[in-house]
Amino acid sequence: MTRHFLRDDDLSPAEQAEILDLAADIKADRWGRTPLEGPQTVAVIFDKSSTRTRVSFAVGIADLGGSPLIISTANSQLGGKETPSDTARVLERMVSAIVWRTYAQSGLEEMAAGTRVPVVNALSDDFHPCQLLADLLTIREHKGQLAGLTVAFLGDGASNMAHSYLLAGATAGMHVRVASPAEFSPTASVVEDAARRAEQTGGSVTVTDDPRAAVAGADVVVTDTWVSMGKEEEKAHRVATFGGYQVTTELMTTAASDAIFLHCLPADRGYEVAADVIDGPQSVIWDEAENRLHAQKALLVWLLERAAAV
Ligand code: CP
Ligand code: NVA
Repeated sequence: MTRHFLRDDDLSPAEQAEILDLAADIKADRWGRTPLEGPQTVAVIFDKSSTRTRVSFAVGIADLGGSPLIISTANSQLGGKETPSDTARVLERMVSAIVWRTYAQSGLEEMAAGTRVPVVNALSDDFHPCQLLADLLTIREHKGQLAGLTVAFLGDGASNMAHSYLLAGATAGMHVRVASPAEFSPTASVVEDAARRAEQTGGSVTVTDDPRAAVAGADVVVTDTWVSMGKEEEKAHRVATFGGYQVTTELMTTAASDAIFLHCLPADRGYEVAADVIDGPQSVIWDEAENRLHAQKALLVWLLERAAAV
């Protein structure tokens, strides 16, 4: 069976660790293997805007000896005249993998079900699993471990980043706390899936509406925009509702004294995070952004090796 990466728990705990190890080796230039076998083109499709994802996939695929084919849905048949399934049947005749940033998770599932080549979720409304590989790599670099650490995510608990922290953090054996207003709580089925994963790994999952309870003693503090792509019309309501969830310098003093701060970017300073925090000494956001490149190279190598073996 072709392996896809549509959500964080598509990887077992051992597979996640293997990809993070490979990413660290690639980053340190300790990687003794040839990149991709033969000429390979990877289609990278965007229904939504992107800076980091677009550049990191384009550069990463080229670094591996492949050719990135960047497609905007606005200029393609996908999303208008053609289904994900038919698009997938065409692309698999020409490319080695499909990376897609889109809205509905169901579109990615349809794309994956319709093709023999690996499909990678480059962000959907529900998950951002490539970002989490980069975040975990960054946390591991700064903390030396993942299992047993406590991570607090503040803000939109129903967002792609909160969901991915729940699944990927639990897979890594972390204690994941999500604090959000009740109206924006994480999806119940995702919390259940994360809790099941945490039982296997020794991690845990906590959902609360109390930001102070979530951050107390945490090793890692994370937030994300209050207004994800596609939610722009809800901005006024969201800003009013999330007001108490800003990561401030005062709140950071209640985390562990050596806590680090992450944000996938782009950030709205003065909303989800104070400028003094995101631009301060505990912030590791630039390492996090760079690690998109290394983590995704590792992911593509891992998926394409398995695809070649099918
Ligand atoms: N963090 C992230 O995915 O950034 P882009 O939207 O710029 O790709
Ligand atoms: N939650 C954000 C992440 C952006 C990288 C969004 O979906 O817009």
